[in-house]
Amino acid sequence: MMNFELFDQSEPPDTFCQILASGAVILRHFALHQAEQILSEVSRVSEQMPFRHMITPGGYEMSVAMTNCGRFGWVTDRSGYRYSELDPLSGKAWISMPPICYQLAVEAASQAGFNDFQPDACLINRYDIGAKMSLHQDKDEPDLNHPIVSMSFGLPAKFQFGGLSRSDKTQNVMLTHGDVVVWGGESRLAYHGILPIRKGYHPATGEHRINLTFRQIK
Ligand code: SIN
Ligand code: FE2
Repeated sequence: MMNFELFDQSEPPDTFCQILASGAVILRHFALHQAEQILSEVSRVSEQMPFRHMITPGGYEMSVAMTNCGRFGWVTDRSGYRYSELDPLSGKAWISMPPICYQLAVEAASQAGFNDFQPDACLINRYDIGAKMSLHQDKDEPDLNHPIVSMSFGLPAKFQFGGLSRSDKTQNVMLTHGDVVVWGGESRLAYHGILPIRKGYHPATGEHRINLTFRQIK
C-alpha cells in the first residue's frame, strides 16, 4: 500500500502575505515560479560542495544535511557555530550566490519592509524524512538589523515560530513548496524550528525538503 502524499501543482496559486508577528511574514508561493531554476542551482552547488551532516558544538550530528553558497557559509563543529569564507570539507571558497537566488531574496525582504538587504550568505538545508531542526535563534550574524529570508521547496514542513524566550508559546505553520518567510526587526531573534518531516513525495524534490536561508554578514 503506497503511503505517499501527493501535491497537485496543476494550478499555481497566487502570492499572498500572512503576518506571523511584528517584523515576521510568510510570503506564500513567493518563490514558486522560480522554484525549478533555484533547485537546479542547488543541485549545481551541491555537486561541488556536497550536503553534509555537521556536528554541533555539543557533539551531536545534525539530522539536516547542509551546504552553503555566497561569500560566507554557516558552519558548525566541536569548536562552535560561525560563518566561514571557506568550505571546511574542500578548503575552497563557497560557490558564489546564484543571481536568481540573490534577486528573489532581496525582493522578498523588500516586500516585508526591509529595503537595504544585501545577502552574502545562503545556508542550504536538505531535510530527509524524519529530519528536524530544534528551536533556536539565528544570532551568529554581526548586524541584527538585517532580516533572515527563508525559502522552502519540496516536502511540506511544520515551522515553529515563537518569541524571544525558548519557553514562549510557538505558532506552528505549514510551509510548502515556494513559500518564503522573512523575519527581522522585533522578531529578528525569535526562536524557530522545524518539526520532523513527514513521509511523502514531492515532484520537485522527491523525498526531501530543501530550505535556503539568506543572511547578510558584511
Ligand atoms: C533555519 O532555521 O535555519 C532553517 C529553517 C527552515 O528549514 O525552514
Ligand atoms: Fe534558523
